[in-house]
Amino acid sequence: MERTFAIIKPDAVARRHAGRILERIENAGFQIRAMRLMRLTQAEAAGFYAVHRERPFFTGLVEFMSSGPLVALVLEAPDAIKKWRTLMGATDPAKADPGTIRKEFASSIGENATHGSDAPETAAFEIGYFFSGMELVDK
Ligand code: RTP
Ligand code: MG
Repeated sequence: MERTFAIIKPDAVARRHAGRILERIENAGFQIRAMRLMRLTQAEAAGFYAVHRERPFFTGLVEFMSSGPLVALVLEAPDAIKKWRTLMGATDPAKADPGTIRKEFASSIGENATHGSDAPETAAFEIGYFFSGMELVDK
């Protein structure tokens, strides 16, 4: 079993797509190990995306991720990191495969409905950034 960190981003929550995205997650066979509705401060969003701080889209990304409520999740499945990124689809919804979450729910490359960890080390950092050990429920 593997765990990954996921976000239903502020655009998807604002457009009332959280329920349908959670349904996709459950139908795909993930176990939800933690889940929280919350709003990030700009500093919290900047810390989360610190690897992108030199990128031209960083300021806009921090503004967007702190613009409204999001749903933070820990998902568990065999090969969860890759499985969740496949279900999300490409970063740019215009390039996302049919049937993926970003194809259906994302409006642009910046406001793209969901986040997923890209490697085991980032999953460990991101899960720990949002959740304490006691908030990870597995029994
Ligand atoms: P994420 O980290 O959110 O799961 O997305 P990702 O791996 O598919 O893409 P990444 O390269 O890590 O970029 C992080 C987020 O930054 C925003 N972005 N905007 N305007 C742009 O060109 C641009 N490029 C990236 C997106 O919200 C992307 O998900
Ligand atoms: Mg990424």
